[in-house]
Amino acid sequence: MSGGSTSLAPTLDAAAQAQIARAAAVLRAGGLVAFPTETVYGLGAAAAQPEAVRRIFAAKGRPADHPVIVHLRSANEIDTWARTVPPAARALAAAFWPGPLTLVLPRSAQAHDLITGGQDSVGLRCPSHPWAQALLQAFGGAVAAPSANRFGHISPTTAAHVRADLGERSDATPTAAVDLVLDGGACPVGIESTIVDLTADVPRLLRPGSITREMLAAVLGHAVAEAGADAPRASGRLDSHYAPRTPLELVDAAALPARINALRGQRLALLAPAAAPLDGGSDLALRLIAPADAADYAQRLYAFLHELDAAAADRILVVRPPHGPLWEAVQDRLRRAAAA
Ligand code: TXA
Ligand code: MG
Repeated sequence: MSGGSTSLAPTLDAAAQAQIARAAAVLRAGGLVAFPTETVYGLGAAAAQPEAVRRIFAAKGRPADHPVIVHLRSANEIDTWARTVPPAARALAAAFWPGPLTLVLPRSAQAHDLITGGQDSVGLRCPSHPWAQALLQAFGGAVAAPSANRFGHISPTTAAHVRADLGERSDATPTAAVDLVLDGGACPVGIESTIVDLTADVPRLLRPGSITREMLAAVLGHAVAEAGADAPRASGRLDSHYAPRTPLELVDAAALPARINALRGQRLALLAPAAAPLDGGSDLALRLIAPADAADYAQRLYAFLHELDAAAADRILVVRPPHGPLWEAVQDRLRRAAAA
């Protein structure tokens, strides 16, 4: 857990610094930059420029009423974008920023309708990834950024994922919507930030992530509530999201041999623990080994889904991972990937 709201001092080499400087110039000019965060790659635009934010929606093919998260350099900027900040929000920011936590707060006048999706709230997060921090510092302002994938597609955890899904402007592709993709390697957390709504009396969990409800409760002194039907819109809460194009099915480990048998004749791509029973005989299009550790699993989940999807199988089978606090976010993303 990172402490306080001080920003990290990124140690990036000269080539990386040059890329960051270019990216900051693109943002100032109203362009789009894909950049790594500790969770997934974001597709960023200058948050204070509505026309720039509008380009994010066009690039993603995303409905205009879905809000985007505003990325901040530090917790000092909360009050620029939120008009009221309850003590619980300050406590969570102090405990988990910079880091993979998004706070939904009553918006300020600065948070225009394109950022809020026309709602009265704004999502704020201070990322810890050194490239994201360096970009925010070089740009000198807030960056609006959803995940850098087309609407409904799998979130990107590498620069290659971004380029494959959205493209990048170059002489060969002069009309690509994304002006620049910063390559900072694979994202260390691998799944999107935990989102907590602080606009009601009791903080509510809108999206589980690597900051678990237990970690939130330890700071708040009480449990977070569940998001009810009246919760704010969040595309990550749609039943079908984060989905590969190939149909994905979750299977209990014990039922796997029978399921594989029943699907004989279909090309199957499988994600299962090393010890999962297969009963031999089947020739799989792809077999990936699921990590036993929840953080490892989360970090590699979207790369697994991209790879399983690329296997040109008829169906993807994923052995249901264990239950328990550390697995909640992985379970959540797999459920949505299966709901397509
Ligand atoms: O880890 C992350 O959060 C990544 C990185 C790039 O920061 N971003 C991300 O953005 O996952 P996106 O847009 O793909 O998902 C953000 C979620 C969406 O479901 C959006 O609806 C929700 O946050 N959100 C943003 N502002 C909100 C608000 N004011 N009220 C409710 N939900 C909000
Ligand atoms: Mg997304």
